[in-house]
Amino acid sequence: MDDLKAKYLGQIADAGDENTLEAIRVAAVGKKGEVALKMRELGKMTPEERQVAGPALNALKDEINSALSAKKAALADAALDERLRTEWLDVTLPTRPRGQGSVHPISQATEELTAIFAELGFSVAEGPRIEDDWYNFDALNIPGHHPARAEMDTFYMHRAEGDNRPPHVLRTHTSPVQIRSMEKQGAPIRVICPGGVYRADYDQTHTPMFHQVEGLAIDKDISMANLKWVLEEFVKAFFEVDDVELRFRASHFPFTEPSAEVDIRCSWDNGQLKIGEGDDWMEILGSGMVHPKVIAAGGIDPEVYQGFAFGIGIDRLAMLKYGIPDLRAFFDSDLRWLRHYGFAALDMPNLHGGLSR
Ligand code: DAH
Repeated sequence: MDDLKAKYLGQIADAGDENTLEAIRVAAVGKKGEVALKMRELGKMTPEERQVAGPALNALKDEINSALSAKKAALADAALDERLRTEWLDVTLPTRPRGQGSVHPISQATEELTAIFAELGFSVAEGPRIEDDWYNFDALNIPGHHPARAEMDTFYMHRAEGDNRPPHVLRTHTSPVQIRSMEKQGAPIRVICPGGVYRADYDQTHTPMFHQVEGLAIDKDISMANLKWVLEEFVKAFFEVDDVELRFRASHFPFTEPSAEVDIRCSWDNGQLKIGEGDDWMEILGSGMVHPKVIAAGGIDPEVYQGFAFGIGIDRLAMLKYGIPDLRAFFDSDLRWLRHYGFAALDMPNLHGGLSR
């Protein structure tokens, strides 16, 4: 028994890992291990011999078992120490360089214009991109037969066979949010509504999904002069210049009367897009005095209230401000392009600190 004890305690002390330890356990105190075999011999002994050998064998078994668990704990501690020694982390290392994740120019432009309009007293409203055809058209004074429906290259949502309700559409502009905001807030109201819109169109300055920001101001004494001032203030603040050359053109929209489109002077020399110089004009927005029928569709009394509205192309603003000549690149998800034109994630645009740095 002393031999057994010396042998197994020695092996346990030398064991370098858990597998070895387990093999020793099976050989020593397992069901068919050496101690179990010795226990079987008890049957052949005289009662006197058994009285001595039985307790001694049990004590041996206990001693081996506790040596096994002590060694097991010691091995686990050593393994943890080893991991702590090798898997260390230098928390003083610098963070990833700026530009690993950046803000898309359209998000940046949206944050910038939101900051500007907030200063002018406009809050932000949102509406769904899958829009009811009443909000997208009828409520905006575009009835079923109106040519504007065809002009807008509308994407219609599929209706199940036999379902004769008017189809939903991917909103073709942010103007339906005018109606939703008037319904929700009533008058007076001053909101901007930025977001994605959809039309089947594709070339250097058109993509099937693009972004607009709608503006709406309704009160009892609002005129075209207020509209012009707000737009000029906005454009100057957005482009961070004291003067921008704008061209107000008389135009027509079903939802405004009178209406004006606004172009901004620019040049496209050698594939470079520059604002404020050259002989080209880029249309950036439509605007006008909200049609009485539209005010009424929003649940407000057009005999008491009037106001102005505008719809600006956000992507066009970003192209002009950041000199990006092709709109399609905005949506290519090309990492090199995103790294080049992206903005630092933690620089929130505001008018006092500077819009874009
Ligand atoms: N919804 C028009 C479009 O997408 C833009 C527009 C024009 C919006 C005049 C307006 C507005 O609010 O008054 O082409």
